[in-house]
Amino acid sequence: MNIAVTFLPRREPTPLPPIAFIGGGNMATAILGGLLKQDVAAATFEVVEPSADARLRLQSELRIAAHPEPGSALERCEVVVWAVKPQSFEEAARATASFTRDALHLSIAAGIPSDSIAGWLGTDRVVRAMPNTPALVGEGMTGLFARSSIADGERELVSRVLEATGELLWLDTEELLDAVTALSGSGPAYVFYFIEAMVEAGVAMGLSADDAQQLAIGTFRGAAALAGDSKDSPQELRQKVTSKGGTTHAALLSMEADAVKQHFMKAIEAARQRAAGLAAEYGQARG
Ligand SMILES: NC(=O)c1ccc[n+]([C@@H]2O[C@H](COP(=O)([O-])OP(=O)(O)OC[C@H]3O[C@@H](n4cnc5c(N)ncnc54)[C@H](OP(=O)(O)O)[C@@H]3O)[C@@H](O)[C@H]2O)c1
Repeated sequence: MNIAVTFLPRREPTPLPPIAFIGGGNMATAILGGLLKQDVAAATFEVVEPSADARLRLQSELRIAAHPEPGSALERCEVVVWAVKPQSFEEAARATASFTRDALHLSIAAGIPSDSIAGWLGTDRVVRAMPNTPALVGEGMTGLFARSSIADGERELVSRVLEATGELLWLDTEELLDAVTALSGSGPAYVFYFIEAMVEAGVAMGLSADDAQQLAIGTFRGAAALAGDSKDSPQELRQKVTSKGGTTHAALLSMEADAVKQHFMKAIEAARQRAAGLAAEYGQARG
């Protein structure tokens, strides 16, 4: 029997255009690290970073050009990623705007509204994203919002930049980014907090700290994988492992008596309010 085999030409991904990062700290390094792992050339990037130590790290470990202040090196960049703290954003934007007039801007700063960013930079081409720190290991969760002037091709470009860090979720309204900040942006810290509590409980019950940590982290990893894979809702999964009168039931009854869920929800709402507060504090032009 003759089998006809057709070899399709291998499609190389379109290379990314030149990208500037304003701020070369933790999140910038996570995104850059993810992109470099996907074989994006280091020469694609220009980073502006005032800290000499951070610049040295970027140059020696990632082979990326890092500058102490914005300058003409940024003029070739078609995308600018804003990875500065919210309180530094306005100053950094005003210093950078004249070098990045034609670029697409992607902000990962918590709380700063796109109206403020558009005003500071003198352009409407602004996308906001809220990543989280598991981006450092390629397992991030990022919520995104694009202003109405952003074309589909520009969304795709932003997706290609951030996909290097993990999963993406596009939102239709900017206000929801505060909820994303409270849920997944700050969320890894909640998980670490619960891991800490499980480890402390394990040690109190006689396990070694290392063993308790392995059990706690393995349990979070496995439960998250199961919840992600299963057709059952988290509530159904919980009910399936909670037989009446059993050990899990005893723990959940204790949590309910202490209103753990309500207190946890209250904590997440506090984070959302803080995100909204950041906009009020740092989002308005100071003239
Ligand atoms: N870390 C998270 O979990 C997380 C999650 C979601 C979103 N974000 C957002 O990501 C942004 C960056 O956070 P991060 O954790 O990466 O902070 P970070 O590690 O402090 O990085 C920010 C960097 O920006 C530099 N910088 C300060 N002023 C600058 C300027 N005018 N121009 C250029 N660079 C400047 C800082 O240098 P100096 O240290 O010398 O000031 C610092 O190295 C924040 O807006 C945050 O809201 C963070």
